[in-house]
Amino acid sequence: MRKTQHAGSGDALRFALAEDTSCAVTLELNGVTRRGACETRELLSDFLRHELGATGTHVGCEHGVCGACTVLVDGVAARSCLMLALQADGRRIDTVEGLSVSAQTLGDLQEAFARHHALQCGFCTAGILMSCTDFLQRVPNPDEHAVREMLSGHLCRCTGYTPIVAAVLDVAKQRQAHSREEEASHV
Ligand code: FES
Ligand code: FES
Repeated sequence: MRKTQHAGSGDALRFALAEDTSCAVTLELNGVTRRGACETRELLSDFLRHELGATGTHVGCEHGVCGACTVLVDGVAARSCLMLALQADGRRIDTVEGLSVSAQTLGDLQEAFARHHALQCGFCTAGILMSCTDFLQRVPNPDEHAVREMLSGHLCRCTGYTPIVAAVLDVAKQRQAHSREEEASHV
């Protein structure tokens, strides 16, 4: 943010802030082009929630520690509390809202979380789902150790890690079986 030389002056401060408050950001949110205005210092997590209404992304520590705010930026998991909204301009952002197949139908990873009771209060769940989405794209056939290592980037205060591991391994197995079926049907 630009500093004012007369911080004690209400007018000068208002002017300085006003100069910084009207940046336009255009991004692709869950496949849809969205535009909004932000302050230069505004975090991506706040922009998603307050400007674009994507409140599925939660904010916990705001210091990059808890993982609750995790989204995908151009397909890669990132802490939205460690990014400025301006840095997301022109990029593809995926949030938990984009995981469901339709308004009534959850995606397979979400279904697996529900099946395994892999959430308790659910506050951290959106971020964990996004990390798992990224992880399963990169590691389609993980073992338990790899899943636990990935989850170590998330602090769940309800401490329900074991069902989350089971859900991730389950969905990985399902996807593997599905792709084998697909391959077989093309032979
Ligand atoms: S709110 Fe971003 S890591 Fe905790
Ligand atoms: S489910 Fe409650 S904090 Fe993780």
